[in-house]
Amino acid sequence: MTTASQSVAAPANASTLGKEWWRSAVIYQIYPRSFADLSGDGIGDLPGITARLDSLAALGVDAIWLSPFYTSPQKDAGYDVADYCDVDPLFGTLDDFEVMQNRAHELGLRVIVDIVPNHTSDAHRWFQEAVAAPAGSAERARYMFRDGKGASGELAPNNWESVFGGPAWTRLVEPDGTPGQWYLHLFDSSQPDLDWQNPWVRDQFRDILRFWLDRGVDGFRVDVAHGMIKAEGLPDYTPTPGGSMGGSGSTAEGVALEPGISDHSEDQPTAPFWAQDGVHEIYRDWHTVLAAYEGDRVLCAEAWVEPLTKLARWVRPDEMHQAFNFSYLETPWTGPALRRIIDDSISAFAGVGAPSTWVLSNHDVVRHASRLALTAENPQGAGIGPDSLGLPDQDLGLHRARAATALMLGLPGSAYVYQGEELGLPEVIHLPDAARQDPTWFRTNGERYGRDGCRVPIPWEAQAPAFGFNDSGESWLPQPDEWATYARDAQAGVEGSTLELYTELLRLRRENDLGMGSLEWLSGFGESVVAFSNGPITVIANTGQVPVELPLGTIVASSGPVDGGVLPADTTVWITA
Ligand code: NOJ
Repeated sequence: MTTASQSVAAPANASTLGKEWWRSAVIYQIYPRSFADLSGDGIGDLPGITARLDSLAALGVDAIWLSPFYTSPQKDAGYDVADYCDVDPLFGTLDDFEVMQNRAHELGLRVIVDIVPNHTSDAHRWFQEAVAAPAGSAERARYMFRDGKGASGELAPNNWESVFGGPAWTRLVEPDGTPGQWYLHLFDSSQPDLDWQNPWVRDQFRDILRFWLDRGVDGFRVDVAHGMIKAEGLPDYTPTPGGSMGGSGSTAEGVALEPGISDHSEDQPTAPFWAQDGVHEIYRDWHTVLAAYEGDRVLCAEAWVEPLTKLARWVRPDEMHQAFNFSYLETPWTGPALRRIIDDSISAFAGVGAPSTWVLSNHDVVRHASRLALTAENPQGAGIGPDSLGLPDQDLGLHRARAATALMLGLPGSAYVYQGEELGLPEVIHLPDAARQDPTWFRTNGERYGRDGCRVPIPWEAQAPAFGFNDSGESWLPQPDEWATYARDAQAGVEGSTLELYTELLRLRRENDLGMGSLEWLSGFGESVVAFSNGPITVIANTGQVPVELPLGTIVASSGPVDGGVLPADTTVWITA
């Protein structure tokens, strides 16, 4: 049972105002199209975010990270950028961004924005100019254009596949109507890959970073930070079944079939488009760009790289500051796997002087309130829908998700929270086919459901249109009726609600400076139990089915009911002496 929490937290970053705030920060991911929609067009926007920021300060997070809100045709929900230095009218204006950022800073929340350097939208001026220019021109050299193979260039330059399914190459129709060169797109055909060997590309991105740094952002989450450099000669590549993208390599981003227990040694072959050594010099360069600014600005790598010792190279002292720990996200809910990944994470990141990060959900994975109760394998990006195997029991999923979060927020380092997880939202399984928008769904002809199920606009008010997402009742993805029970106003102040659990855990985490703490394992509880102390807090998580006797102490937070000093299945408690 959680204790009742205050309705408004102290300034969220009171304990992180000093240097290197990011070492211990809890960073809340806002997915702008699904957070709050002030205009009422059914797609969230920046003024909507501004209007709801107080709730995040009250929740007690330290920073927000916004997924892309830049000018974009929205073929991949904004990860297809047509202008890196402007706001898409769907989301508002640059002035709206400034108002939002000022309000966030007033509330003590740092602001991290997304940057998407691996590819642009095909609507970007750079690509439009490249298409209009002849083969071999400086404009074409911005991207990965190649002649095709075969007698008349009719075959793709190599056999690479797109992360979203289908070939990773598309053939151009030249301005005169004849079939022409091919261009590489690791993602959708509307997302051509830039050529990062070209100094011109590097110059453009230095300017883009400065554009946002000058506007006062506190840092960048770097999209596909392991993909920008491709192996010399673009050799064919056939993924080994069961491989992961960063280690032995599948083509699909984040497909990891041995979740959390990575046996991949560092010397296993790497896919020629992931985790190439050349990326590091880019981040060293970016590091110097950020370091020239006051105020502790950060780079956080979205790099699906295994093993963790290899991922740690992204956060060496002169590169990025943080990298998402996807190995942790993919770890099954079992004692041995969790202990091992926590140990491996702390030692790998500490080995380069970086904090470990922890994450359970984001806009690309099945929400952990559903994922932790799946009974069949579900590779990242596949999503779940009505015909998926092993669909989760929702109660069990929520129970485990709360326990998993209580475990995560007790760990030292920095943690990421994805919008809606503080409400216990499950993945939406029953989205009508016609509503789905993820390019994965289209590029695999519906074989993979994709990521729409974790992107449904979140509920704020149980009784309002679109559950308070806006006033009009419009929603770019339909919200399930039962989401009324998950609405923020239905949980606020309700003892034991998921919202109150998160608020209480975050309050205790900050009060006890757990982010800057250190972990000491406790033994004697059995294989299925993950138990450790971090400063004055003892965290005990029972991943098994057998109830476990708790040590003496005061329970200060609990993910579920605990009676008679016995910790039930799938429950985590925080105890003080
Ligand atoms: C990772 C982003 O998180 C995902 O949403 C996007 O589709 C790909 N990168 C391509 O930008």
